[in-house]
Amino acid sequence: MAARIDGKAISQAIRDEVAQEVARMKSALGKVPGLAVILVGSRKDSLLYVTSKEKACEQAGIRSYSVNLPDTATEAEILEHVHKFNRDPDVHGILVQLPLPKHVREQEILGAVSMDKDVDGFHPTNIGRLAMQGRQPLFIPCTPRGCIELLLRTGVQISGKHAVVIGRSNIVGTPAAMLLQRHNATVTVVHSYTPDPAAVTRTADIVIAAAGVAHLVRKDWLKPGAVVIDVGINPIEDPSAKKGHRTVGDVHFKEACSVASAITPVPGGVGPMTIAMLLQNTVESAKRAYE
Ligand code: GUN
Repeated sequence: MAARIDGKAISQAIRDEVAQEVARMKSALGKVPGLAVILVGSRKDSLLYVTSKEKACEQAGIRSYSVNLPDTATEAEILEHVHKFNRDPDVHGILVQLPLPKHVREQEILGAVSMDKDVDGFHPTNIGRLAMQGRQPLFIPCTPRGCIELLLRTGVQISGKHAVVIGRSNIVGTPAAMLLQRHNATVTVVHSYTPDPAAVTRTADIVIAAAGVAHLVRKDWLKPGAVVIDVGINPIEDPSAKKGHRTVGDVHFKEACSVASAITPVPGGVGPMTIAMLLQNTVESAKRAYE
């Protein structure tokens, strides 16, 4: 039976550390870290994420600034807010909630965020540095950083292991693969064009599942003793659930439990780590600003 990696408890420990650091900054410097969140449109999931980010900031003592623009906002209007926050010395982190509406070029917006306030780590220069040996990004994207933090804080060795990342998105899969490589894992990325993803994944010591497909990873995808990090957040219909649906990961949790040595649940695994890492990135940015 696999051990359960408790993302809720680990993220709470990180949030407590962050709150302590914020309190220390406040008394030593009279300054608190500030995070600006730009939301464009009214997607329900994005709204939910943004609200929980604001709440988490408040609990940690981080000041949050939020801008909510309509679906019809132009690139120029969004850029205006990005530039304003770039200039504001009280703002140490800027996050543009993704996805943006279709008419907006994501790269134009993400590339305009000041590199030293890029707490999401999505600026092309930060991503480029993440990919290069011997170069240091100013920020590491929150969800991949959260996955690695879960491994490190549960004592899982990464160096020398074979890690398979399922999915190659800009937000999770691709940066997760680069990050694992920086921790000296041998990394294979499996995606929708991989002929036999199960056979490849079955060779992994560490699996990071970030495909966005409910229950994609079954028992026969896993090597006995593998460590499984499930990034998926997929709603599925379930008439017995309170709202008629529930959230499941990319991994069939029950099946995986009988094969893996450790696994993150959904919910309560990677999800809460993303916000904890965002808070940590924001505090690190503020500390750099006042060093
Ligand atoms: N949308 C889904 N995940 C993320 C994330 O980590 N950051 C931002 N900005 N948008 C997202």
